[in-house]
Order: sequence, then structure tokens, then C-alpha cells
Amino acid sequence: MGYGFSRRDVAYLGSAAGRGALAEVDRLALTPQTYVRDLERVRRDHAHPAALVETVQLRRRAVTKLSEARHWLLTDDALQQATPSLVARHRAARLAGRAVHDVTCSVGAELAALAPVCPAVLGSDVDDVRLAMAAHNLAEHANVLPIEADALVPVSAGTVVIADPARRADGRRTRDPAKLRPPLPDLLAAYPGRDLAVKCAPGLDFDRLGWSGEIEVVSLDGVVREACLWTCGLAEHGVTRRATILSSTRRPVTLTDADPQDIPRRAPGAWILDPDGAVVRAGLVRHYAARHGLWQLDPRIAYLTGDELPAGTRGFRIVERFDYREKSVRAELRRRDCGPLEILVRGVDVDPDRLRRSVKPVGSQPFTLVLTRIGSTPTAFLCTAVDSRVL
Ligand SMILES: C[S@@+](CC[C@H](N)C(=O)[O-])C[C@H]1O[C@@H](n2cnc3c(N)ncnc32)[C@H](O)[C@@H]1O
Repeated sequence: MGYGFSRRDVAYLGSAAGRGALAEVDRLALTPQTYVRDLERVRRDHAHPAALVETVQLRRRAVTKLSEARHWLLTDDALQQATPSLVARHRAARLAGRAVHDVTCSVGAELAALAPVCPAVLGSDVDDVRLAMAAHNLAEHANVLPIEADALVPVSAGTVVIADPARRADGRRTRDPAKLRPPLPDLLAAYPGRDLAVKCAPGLDFDRLGWSGEIEVVSLDGVVREACLWTCGLAEHGVTRRATILSSTRRPVTLTDADPQDIPRRAPGAWILDPDGAVVRAGLVRHYAARHGLWQLDPRIAYLTGDELPAGTRGFRIVERFDYREKSVRAELRRRDCGPLEILVRGVDVDPDRLRRSVKPVGSQPFTLVLTRIGSTPTAFLCTAVDSRVL
């Protein structure tokens, strides 16, 4: 949950006295070993000690996610909910040159990405503490205006609207669009005919929405982060699904359902590939295969195969293929002196942890075991992993 900041805390932290105090507290280690002593010292020397310590700790945690956060004010929840800077910048780039209203702006992670590329940026939220923090965080951007407003009661006209409804209801993550805050169906109904981009959880049940625009699934460094709904006016012509693969170290890769998807049906090649989660969630596995000269192990399974490993990917060179039985796996692992074992499972009901405990790989050679179904046959591929990503 984290510390509950008040408006008075925010006003103090943003003042000259508060900024000086934050700089002093930032010189403390605040580790489990020093925490009690450090806190005593902050209590003795400063007003708002809990707000100071929490802010310094949040800033330290935020640096990998939010590139500007070194001087930001945040709450624990707001940091968890914030869009990572790389993802926010990707969205902002699609909106460059437009006036944008972020109707659930929180502490301003999206505003910070929009400000450099959009002429006018409005940010609103119902949480007055987060808004005060956003005003502090974006103070240097003259084109950003934070205001308190309910997203369900439009206060702007002519702007693109972006929204990121909170994904927790009653303290639990929800997959039901109607349980988001604000509820997604109400949000969409509030902006008829407006250009709208709505960030959602990638696991959200999109079929319940019947979305007619584009759904973009975005991953960052191999982890699927979000699905963004784009209304038709903001979508590329003919595109209803997009996978965007972002990386901290490599150029972004994008794939859409307008790309070719014709692939051959062939026996497994020399390699197996498990495509990025954004490709799988966006339903673009065949499109990805067509781009890279790959094909599917089975038409209903998202594993791909081919004779070469596409550049910049991690894949698995097939060493042995056999019908899956626990006994056969155990024998094969022993024969090949298998030690560290990565187990990938798709399309068969196998718990990898239980299997690893049962087959006990105690040798020295690392392998990857890919378990899947080809037709109706549970099939095992013993492989060696090769990573051609340049990190
Ligand atoms: C997931 S957070 C947004 C995070 C933000 N996109 C970022 O990257 O920092 C959702 C925000 O919606 C706000 N919110 C919830 N209901 C709202 C409503 N009816 N109107 C405006 N804001 C609302 C919450 O206060 C919260 O700050």
C-alpha cells in the first residue's frame, strides 16, 4: 500500500525546504540494516519524515521504470500503475502533433512522454494528491495543464483522449472491463466520435467489448505490458491487431494483421521459436512466421519452427525429438548428461516444476525441453538454447 500522502505533504515536498530535506534524506542508505537509525535521524531533523523517506525510496525504485523520476513525487500505487517511459513514449509518438487530454493522468507518466511531442497536453484525474504530484512533476513543461476532473464527464473538446483505467477492483486485479476504474464501457460511452486511445491489461476480455478499431499489444524487454485500444481515426488503415515489441537495448519491432500470413505446412525444421508474448496475444503468430520464413509446429499451437534462427531472437536448436512420456524424458536426460533444464510447455497438460522434480536432471549439460502437441500426439523436443539478441 505504501504511505498515504496528503496535499500538505505534497506542498512541503515541492517547497524549497522540502527539496533540501529530500536531498539530505537521499544521502542516507535506508537499508534494512540502517533503516531504524536513519528514520530516527529524519524524524529529529525534519517535518513530514514519513513522506520524505517514502519519496526517496520510491524515487530509487522508480529509476528503471520512469526515466524522469529522479525528482518526481509519487505514491507507491501510482508507481506500480505508471506506464513505463519507453511504452509511454511509443504511444506518444503515435500522437505527435495532436493536442491530447489524458483523462486518468495520475502522477503524469504519460504526460511526460506527450509533452515533448504534442503542442498542448491536458491531464486530469479525480485523485487530488496525485494531481498535485503531476503538477510538480510536469512543472517545467509550459504546454501541460493538470486539472481535477472526472473522466466520465468530458471537460475538453477537439483533443485526442487517452485513458488508463485502474485495473484493480476491491484490491484484486480484474479482467472485466466493467470493473475497471473508471469502468471501460462508461468511459467509451462518454467520448462518442472522439479519437481515443485506452490502455488496458493485456489479459482483458476484449471479446466482451466488440472493439472495431485497433488493438495493439505491447511488450517491453520480453514482458507483455499492455493492450492499447485505438479508435479507427487513430489506427492505421486496414489494421485491427498490432504487436509492438519494445526493448531497452534494441530497436522496436512492429507487426500487424495487414502483414502477409501465408506459411507452409512442413515437418519441424532445425529450430523451435517461442514468439514474443505480444505476438502471441495479438494473434499474429502466422504473420511473424511469414516475416521470418518460419512455420508452425502445429496449426493450433503458437510454437514456430524453421531452418534458421531469425537474427535478434532466442531460439532452440532441436537435438532430439520423441513422443512425450515421463520415462522417455528421464532416459534421454540421463543419456545426455543433462543438468540445468528449462522446460517450455504449450498445448499439453504438464506442470514443468513437478516434471523437473520427477525427472531429476543431475548432470552437467544445460538443455531446454519443449513439450507440445503435434496433431494429437504429445511430443517432446530436447533442445539447446541459443540467444542471438544483442544485449
Ligand atoms: C492506472 S492509473 C493511471 C496511470 C497513468 N496512466 C500513468 O502512467 O501514470 C488510473 C488513474 O485513474 C484515476 N481515476 C479513477 N477513476 C477516475 C475517474 N472517474 N476520473 C478520472 N480519473 C480516475 C485514478 O485516480 C488513477 O490515478
